Amino acid sequence: MIGSADGVRISITGLGCHVPERVVTNDELSTMMDTSDEWIRERTGIRERRVAAPEEALSDLCLPAARQALEEAGIDGTQIDLIIVATVTPDMAFPSTGAILADQLGAANAAAYDLSAGCTGFMYAVAQGYGMVAAGLARRALVIGGDVLSRILDWSDRSTAVLFGDGAGAVVIERVSEGGFLGFELGADGSGGSQLFVPAGGSREPASAETVAERRHYVQMNGREVFKFATRVLVSSAENVLAECGKTVDDVDVYIPHQANVRIIDHAAEKLGIPKEKIVVNVDRYGNTSSGSIPLALADAQADGRLQDGALVLMTGMGAGLTWGSGLIEWTANGRTQ
Ligand SMILES: CC(C)(COP(=O)(O)OP(=O)(O)OC[C@H]1O[C@@H](n2cnc3c(N)ncnc32)[C@H](O)[C@@H]1OP(=O)(O)O)[C@@H](O)C(=O)NCCC(=O)NCCS
Repeated sequence: MIGSADGVRISITGLGCHVPERVVTNDELSTMMDTSDEWIRERTGIRERRVAAPEEALSDLCLPAARQALEEAGIDGTQIDLIIVATVTPDMAFPSTGAILADQLGAANAAAYDLSAGCTGFMYAVAQGYGMVAAGLARRALVIGGDVLSRILDWSDRSTAVLFGDGAGAVVIERVSEGGFLGFELGADGSGGSQLFVPAGGSREPASAETVAERRHYVQMNGREVFKFATRVLVSSAENVLAECGKTVDDVDVYIPHQANVRIIDHAAEKLGIPKEKIVVNVDRYGNTSSGSIPLALADAQADGRLQDGALVLMTGMGAGLTWGSGLIEWTANGRTQ
């Protein structure tokens, strides 16, 4: 899927993020499994990640992020009419985390639901929010990306446990008078589904004593295949969205790739020809936070003063599905809503 709505300007007018307090360093992981700080840093660039407290669920991470985003947009929950939560770790199967958050935010006028597209979830959700606003079905959408992957990691599997972390980010999407999204490209290749998946806990393999004993409720991954997929689609998706929008790599001011592994990011940036100073990297501090990854990186870029008015920001996610998705936005400062 590729394209944009003609003639409408829709942008991000509020941004917020939240991570759990607890920092887990590579050295701490080395006391739990056969790994080392050196191995993790060399192969992934990760130094530490955040891990939710036992009582913290996804909505507990999303709520402060959402509140920040609403505050920055200068609105309250009653002015939101759509909430989409991109996640693979909702509070529970149902009700949706979106509905839980709608209640907590006082968003009584909002449609609310969750969306599952692995680590690409945030890009899918932003595109959906954009589409709903463009079509006139929603005036303001609150799009949240977040995951508590620590809950579905096998902490005895060093090939996956060292890679991920917990966190969430949120954006408000609405019509603006200048700038805004130029286009999106989204895709899925379900034939690669078993390269990165959680086999049990759904309707195919419901929870049973056996699935628990076999640790089939946890993330399973073919790291090498996912690495190859990731480096390929980060490049192709970015090239596709740029071409669709009549832009080139040289026009990009800020590049926000999914924060999975610094080697994947470097590889994609080199192939695309994006210089290091334009890339936002925070995987060293957070690990791979799945749907939280891109909004957390956006928030970092904003905190660093890199999201200047009019800056061309390229975001590309990829993950389970296998899925990928890019969005190109001319950053809009606050106060220019229609
Ligand atoms: C997982 C990943 C870091 C592994 O890096 P790699 O360079 O491919 O490493 P390999 O899988 O070839 O493993 C090399 C060795 O390190 C070992 N190893 C794996 N994890 C380890 C760990 N945490 N600590 C120490 N050693 C580890 C392996 O067992 C293997 O040992 P062997 O050679 O004796 O068999 C890399 O494949 C990757 O990043 N893949 C993409 C994952 C991803 O981003 N997933 C999410 C996408 S949204």
